[in-house]
Amino acid sequence: MEEKIRTLLEQAKAELKSVANIQELADLKVKYLGKKSEFTALLKGLGELPVEQRPQMGNLVNAAKVEIEDLITDFENQMQAKELEEKLKKEKIDVTMPSNVQKIGSVHPITKIIDEVKDIFIGMGYKIADGPEIEKAEYNFDKLNTPKGHPARDLQDTFYITEDIVLRSQTSPVQARVMETEKPPIKIICPGTVYRSDSVDATHSPVFHQIEGLVIDKKVTMADLKGTLEMFAKKCLGENTKIRFRPHHFPFTEPSAEADVSCFVCGGKGCRVCKGEGWIELLGCGMVHPNVLRSCNIDPEEYSGFAFGFGVERIAMAKYGIDDMRLLFENDIRFLKQF
Ligand code: DAH
Repeated sequence: MEEKIRTLLEQAKAELKSVANIQELADLKVKYLGKKSEFTALLKGLGELPVEQRPQMGNLVNAAKVEIEDLITDFENQMQAKELEEKLKKEKIDVTMPSNVQKIGSVHPITKIIDEVKDIFIGMGYKIADGPEIEKAEYNFDKLNTPKGHPARDLQDTFYITEDIVLRSQTSPVQARVMETEKPPIKIICPGTVYRSDSVDATHSPVFHQIEGLVIDKKVTMADLKGTLEMFAKKCLGENTKIRFRPHHFPFTEPSAEADVSCFVCGGKGCRVCKGEGWIELLGCGMVHPNVLRSCNIDPEEYSGFAFGFGVERIAMAKYGIDDMRLLFENDIRFLKQF
């Protein structure tokens, strides 16, 4: 029996040497160590030996099995390592290959201006306010000292959903909403989309964006308004920007003004951007009309305030030298990726 064990062991070792892959190795394992293997048969046959020989033979068979098992495991590990190495070699990354470029969009110029303006005013202690785009005519007009019959309420001027509900034509109704719900001091800006019944051309669009500002407190004056707008213009358009006021009319402010900024491209000498004027019209503004304060339950004897409003497209066009407003709405990637 000893002889048989030794022969089997030698045979297994010899076969192991010629194993070429994992499958052959698995077959070899079954052949020598499986239930139907010769080693198992030998173990089963131990019972036929004389009792005193059984333990010794049993040990010999088991030792041979362990030896084969260890050899197989070693071989298996070696083969796996080799396979992994080959796989890694095949999967080697060629760092010189061009990558799959991920196309990431850019922030839309309108959003960029809105974010910039928000940052500037937040830096001056303002809060951001929001209001509905589908607005009651009452807030879009009446509370802003624009009673029925006023030309601004013309059907041509904005989109009417019903006689009393409009797509807001300006961000100014947010002023009224804030004044009604908050007690002064109030310091807000309100960016948002507004609508007008205008046909599309290079400088008009039925949908555009405005930013409204409102400050209400005791003893607020036109000087505060001018200082605030000057600070804003310098931060938004450059340190050397100057500001000038021209008298104007808005129903919700008295006195009212339009504010121009010195052209930030030519510095005021006159160029294509400012159309030779040296100045660019920036916004409408004024001291909040006492009627507006009253209609929002604020006592004009105790409080005063200023307000301003401007078109975001106008600023974006001036700042980035865009000569056609339609470019801002067409969303052509070739245009947008420049920002
Ligand atoms: N709402 C005005 C417009 O759409 C802009 C404006 C002017 C807003 C003067 C104001 C303001 O708050 O005081 O033309």
